[in-house]
Amino acid sequence: MTESLSAASISAAFESAFGHAPDGVWSAPGRVNLIGEHTDYNEGFVLPFAIDRAAGVAVRLRTDSTARLLSSYGNQGVVTVDLDTLSHDTMTGWTAYPLGVVWVLRQMGVKIGGFDLYLHSTVPTGAGLSSSAAIECAVASAFNELSGAALSANELVLVGQRAENEVVGAPTGILDQSASLLATDGHAVFLDCRTQESTLVPLDLAASGLLILVVDTKVSHAHATGGYAARRASCELGAEVLGVAALRDVAAADLAEAAGLLDAETYRRVRHIVTEDQRVLDTVAVLGSEGPAAIGELLTASHASMRDDFEISCPELDLAVDTALANGALGARMTGGGFGGSAIALIPAAAETAVRDAVMAAFAGSGFSAPDIFAVSPAPGARRIA
Ligand code: GLA
Repeated sequence: MTESLSAASISAAFESAFGHAPDGVWSAPGRVNLIGEHTDYNEGFVLPFAIDRAAGVAVRLRTDSTARLLSSYGNQGVVTVDLDTLSHDTMTGWTAYPLGVVWVLRQMGVKIGGFDLYLHSTVPTGAGLSSSAAIECAVASAFNELSGAALSANELVLVGQRAENEVVGAPTGILDQSASLLATDGHAVFLDCRTQESTLVPLDLAASGLLILVVDTKVSHAHATGGYAARRASCELGAEVLGVAALRDVAAADLAEAAGLLDAETYRRVRHIVTEDQRVLDTVAVLGSEGPAAIGELLTASHASMRDDFEISCPELDLAVDTALANGALGARMTGGGFGGSAIALIPAAAETAVRDAVMAAFAGSGFSAPDIFAVSPAPGARRIA
């Protein structure tokens, strides 16, 4: 079940840890990417929506340069750091996310002194649902307001991305932070990752008798290492050989020629990006003309492309997708960076029990650990909640 984020309980936990009330409480959601995977750092298109699971932070400014941070994660207790000596060595573990954001803002010249901060999140970690971006965006929203910096949402997206890239060390794009900061209730965010121009696309699943189930495979992924960076490097190589600024500039009609210029593996990586960008555009068009019941095939084609061309799926994700499709899903795909994490299935609401039961049974039958399965619908983006 979704544990909803309570501003009152976050305030209470802050007060009991630090002995005074916070200046405010901010929340920012995790996301599901409906379609458009690994296209963000290729300056292409994505279509995520925020989910009703979020990170909440309570913050109170101090008059010295000390930061005290506490989270409901684990039992690490209060972490105390001197902001004037903040370095990559002192931004470790979960504190890399909030401190990374503060570090980036200070690098940009935003005046931030000491503070007390309490963090609680209902976004599952390692599930491919952007638990890290949720923290970054909640913290960025809090300090944007408390410092009076008044940065725009698109600027805060880049703050979160820099924290992720430069402090956490994951070479990710702007998908997750954009979803968390720009989303609104009932809509997906259609984002052009080259220009940061975005449009809100209505996504009323219930009106069409549909819902989206998330199947969290519990297979963990780590974007700071391995596969994600390797895929990004392949895309950069492909763009360089093809003589374009980014793979966004390669059209489907150019693929035949590209095949002759690239090695077989790089060609498959490029083909995924080029076809995925087109699927995002097609999904937005079909949502507008026919509604969500008609986008299933695009979702499933996206999964096949990630499985076969980009090679970022895994047996658990494939099983979740195949089982959902065999039991009434209109479309299904892995979502997020890949190598584990979650799949999504677009299903008729009436098929929910059948799909859930079938996926649980298939996982048990394959000797995989039980997944976590829950419905999501487009939720609001980052905001102050107290
Ligand atoms: C992760 C990254 C995003 C994006 C996706 C894949 O979520 O953080 O920037 O690249 O993977 O679409």
